[in-house]
Amino acid sequence: AQDAVQDFVIGHGGETHQNAGGTHPAMTGQTGVVIADDENSLKAGERGPVLLEDWNLLEKTQHFDHERIPERVVHARGYGARGYFEVTDPLKGISRAAVLSEAGEKTPVFVRFSTVGGNMGSTDVARDVRGFAVKFYTKEGNWDLVGNNIPVFFIQDAIKFTDLVHSVKQEPDRGFPQAQSAHDTFWDWASLTPESTHMLMWIMSDRAIPRSFRMMEGFGVHTYRLLNDEGKATYVKFHWKPKLGLQSVIWDEALKISGADPDFHRRDLWESIAQGNFPEWELGVQLFDEEFAKKFDFDVLDATKLIPEEIVPVRVVGRLVLDRNVDNYFAETEQVAFCVSNVVPGIDFTNDPLLQGRIVSYVDTQLSRLGGPNYQQIPVNRPIGCPVLNMQRDGHMQMGAQKGRVSYSPSSLEADTPRTDPKRGFTSFPEKMEGDKLRIRAESFGDHYSQALQFFNSQTEPEQNHIVSAFIFELSKVETLAVRKRVVAQLKNVDPKIAERVAKGLGLEGEVPEFPTKVTVKTGLQASPKLSILAN
Ligand code: HEM
Repeated sequence: AQDAVQDFVIGHGGETHQNAGGTHPAMTGQTGVVIADDENSLKAGERGPVLLEDWNLLEKTQHFDHERIPERVVHARGYGARGYFEVTDPLKGISRAAVLSEAGEKTPVFVRFSTVGGNMGSTDVARDVRGFAVKFYTKEGNWDLVGNNIPVFFIQDAIKFTDLVHSVKQEPDRGFPQAQSAHDTFWDWASLTPESTHMLMWIMSDRAIPRSFRMMEGFGVHTYRLLNDEGKATYVKFHWKPKLGLQSVIWDEALKISGADPDFHRRDLWESIAQGNFPEWELGVQLFDEEFAKKFDFDVLDATKLIPEEIVPVRVVGRLVLDRNVDNYFAETEQVAFCVSNVVPGIDFTNDPLLQGRIVSYVDTQLSRLGGPNYQQIPVNRPIGCPVLNMQRDGHMQMGAQKGRVSYSPSSLEADTPRTDPKRGFTSFPEKMEGDKLRIRAESFGDHYSQALQFFNSQTEPEQNHIVSAFIFELSKVETLAVRKRVVAQLKNVDPKIAERVAKGLGLEGEVPEFPTKVTVKTGLQASPKLSILAN
């Protein structure tokens, strides 16, 4: 039909009609009634007013009027694809989760990559963190590993997330800039938040301008816990390593690409999957126990720190392959809801105070973004391969045909009511808790600079130059001189030589004050000055 020169008939007023026939089924309204004419509204007389009883006009228009839903409050711009995860080295005896521990287990996945700060219509190649969110539809329920392409984060405590994001997003009075950086509010906040220093180094590095989603690493960031059949716990950090290796563009290219093709990354992903060049990542884990964790000179519950790979090597346990583009961008990529709280038996949280806040935030925002408590029933969010049976009922957009009179437990009236299963069910690690109720940051979270320097040192000379140039470029856009100086003062705590180079680029030599810092005594396991953190 696409090749037909005349695939339509001309109507009474010269308008075109495409009618059903051949391979084309009949068009219907929402109730299934076949539509006879979709080109003309119902009128009183040929040139008369339109009638209110034209339900097809009303339905079509009203549906359109409600087509948009709120964009995500962060990570608004993203792109998704489907595929599978396959276990290659099962974590038998370490986690009871089938998705990680059963040899050859193949689990369907939905993955969404994203930028963080820009709005939905912003450019793909912005200098920004990239989200790397994976929904595993395991046979024991959905597990969402909601990570980023950078292994650390800006903050240590969820209570600061609102401030971080408000500083990053467009300024509230003017509605711009949309960029992650290059504005006064972000740098004002960062300059007063020493814990962000390590992440700033990564954000100013080439990692923040990837060449392609297919060439990025991914990280769970937080320390999670794995639990085996006996309930024994092992700490874990998750890593995604791209088969194509790590590749970035340089800043000059990023600017040109952003102008020429703001869809650069999504186009690249779509085309490579459509052409059968399926992107692939290895899933790696760093495993260690409580005793080992105590030896580090930083806290494993602090999301601004990474675990050096030279101390705890990454063990590859599986592979992720993306082999199918979405059928519908809105239904799948927009409506997918990744929740940090979606875990399966054998995978558990830790007391990382950033992680704890995330457990609440995702569900909360999705309740409004996706219109109420039944968003897990949207096909892209629904578990595959295991039933969903409980006593939850009703609510907006309820799709489940829940049968029977019993919607409570305990009950005795029906023989097929779902009941709990202590053996197969999710259980939390019985961590011993005691302490005073305090609003406090642990002292073990106090070193904000060592890993920032180790990261800088791990970069090649051209990469180090890119970091310095990025600081100079970004800060040169900041109007408030005191903010520029404060960032350089922070850098002095990382390494006076880096600070000097940035100060020189900004014409601030000799003008930068000291930024007060807490001196931390290092006693634990330390990484060498050059941290081995690079992919492959
Ligand atoms: C998206 C909150 C930290 C990765 C989101 C969303 C919220 C949120 C509200 C939008 C979700 C939606 O509308 O569906 C928070 C809070 C954080 C935090 C409160 C800290 C307290 C992090 C960190 C990471 C991360 C540390 C990486 C490890 C992501 C990703 C998405 C996202 C990848 C996009 C998911 C998607 O593609 O739909 N976050 N976030 N966030 N967040 Fe966070």
